[in-house]
Amino acid sequence: MFSHEDLQQLQANSLKMQSWIRRQTFSPQMEKSLRRFSSWEVSELIFKVNQSTFRGRLAADPSLPSGEVEQDGRQRWFSLEEINELRRRMKVNRKSLLPVRPTGKRAFRAAIANFKGGAGKSTVALHFAHAAALDGYRVLVVDFDPQATLSHSMGLNDVSEDHTVWGIMARDLIRETSRMNTAPQAAESGAALPQRKLPASISDLGLGELRVADFIRPTAWPTIDIVPSCANAAFVEFASAQYRHLNPEWSFFGAVSRYLDQIPDDSYDLIIFDCPPAIGYQSMNAVFAADMLYIPSGPGYWEYDSTTSFIGQLSEALEDLSHGFNGAFPAGKIGLPKAFHDVKFLLTRYEPGNDLHRAMFDAFRNVFGDRLAEHPVEMTRAVEQSGRFLSSVYEIDYRDMTRETWRRARATFDQAYEEFRDTILASWDQLEDEA
Ligand SMILES: Nc1ncnc2c1ncn2[C@@H]1O[C@H](COP(=O)(O)OP(=O)(O)OP(=O)(O)O)[C@@H](O)[C@H]1O
Ligand SMILES: [Mg+2]
Repeated sequence: MFSHEDLQQLQANSLKMQSWIRRQTFSPQMEKSLRRFSSWEVSELIFKVNQSTFRGRLAADPSLPSGEVEQDGRQRWFSLEEINELRRRMKVNRKSLLPVRPTGKRAFRAAIANFKGGAGKSTVALHFAHAAALDGYRVLVVDFDPQATLSHSMGLNDVSEDHTVWGIMARDLIRETSRMNTAPQAAESGAALPQRKLPASISDLGLGELRVADFIRPTAWPTIDIVPSCANAAFVEFASAQYRHLNPEWSFFGAVSRYLDQIPDDSYDLIIFDCPPAIGYQSMNAVFAADMLYIPSGPGYWEYDSTTSFIGQLSEALEDLSHGFNGAFPAGKIGLPKAFHDVKFLLTRYEPGNDLHRAMFDAFRNVFGDRLAEHPVEMTRAVEQSGRFLSSVYEIDYRDMTRETWRRARATFDQAYEEFRDTILASWDQLEDEA
């Protein structure tokens, strides 16, 4: 028989070994850094201009960044900073290389969500973030999942739970409670309402004083920042239920949205959410804050089945919110009833040569029509292989694997990303005008 005390003992043993095991499995030189990109990649894959045009431009203007030549070859290799400088300074056929962004609009928020585990959410979120950065966008990713897959992939292994979505929610509870306590109330009767009080265990954590920037960490990619997660943040689900009880009028699902509202509109272009495989306080915050839902799903029958129940559960959960909080809460930039600018389904781990996968693609299309992304993400060895090193295909140097495998992997993510970007561009203009 095992009681909670036995479990506590097991955990104590495990904690004793934790740093030793960490040293065995992580080495400091594994710290993530971003590689350079060759002039072939920069011209043909990133700027989509032909290589000789690109080389000609560089030759004509010696003040442009010219990259580095590696000892072994003739190619020049450019850092992302240099690529972005080239973007700002070069025009091709009088066209700017800068990415499209509607003026006066805030960053667009896209949630990669499905309550089904292993659907490919983190892989898609990682690749879309990297593809968008290579496309010239400034990206913030928010890791809502205490499994912290995305945070680890982006090289963050030393995160405390205070600086995760959990911290954002606790900070919001403290701030919202104090706002409610000081708001003019009960105007008709003139009577003061009872003050809502939070226990010292919450109010003394110091989270109320954290600044917006305290939750944001840089990554190895100069134009990607992250609100990371960590395993300890798992207890948020448990704690949040308690918090709601402490202040039942707290619109817990709006915490992250209110937080994002405080980030200046021109700091980022895209905000991408990686969601946990469960319905709960964190995932409700993610969907509530999102302008668009992107729903990855594997190409099997059971995955179709669970994707179907995902939209059912989500719809019920959103309906409950609309009933529970009619009007009376500070919604900021996003309000109730919650509506998305767009919703799309995306098949992942798709094998074009597999009859079952093709049949499932047709079935998804029949059911969801043009809500299904036209370009599925194909199953690729490059991702399977990179999984161990937690890198995207964009991070892998193409000289480290068969060129054809790398090209195909990159092409499938590029196509899926471009469709994602075009879907965003179709809605971005419709975001509310800034005050
Ligand atoms: N296109 C792909 N090709 C090959 N393997 C893939 C592909 N997409 C995902 N995988 C693999 O499938 C597994 C699950 O993917 P991922 O972690 O992205 O799913 P998830 O939905 O985020 O999972 P969770 O629900 O646990 O958060 C991983 O091992 C990943 O490497
Ligand atoms: Mg995941």
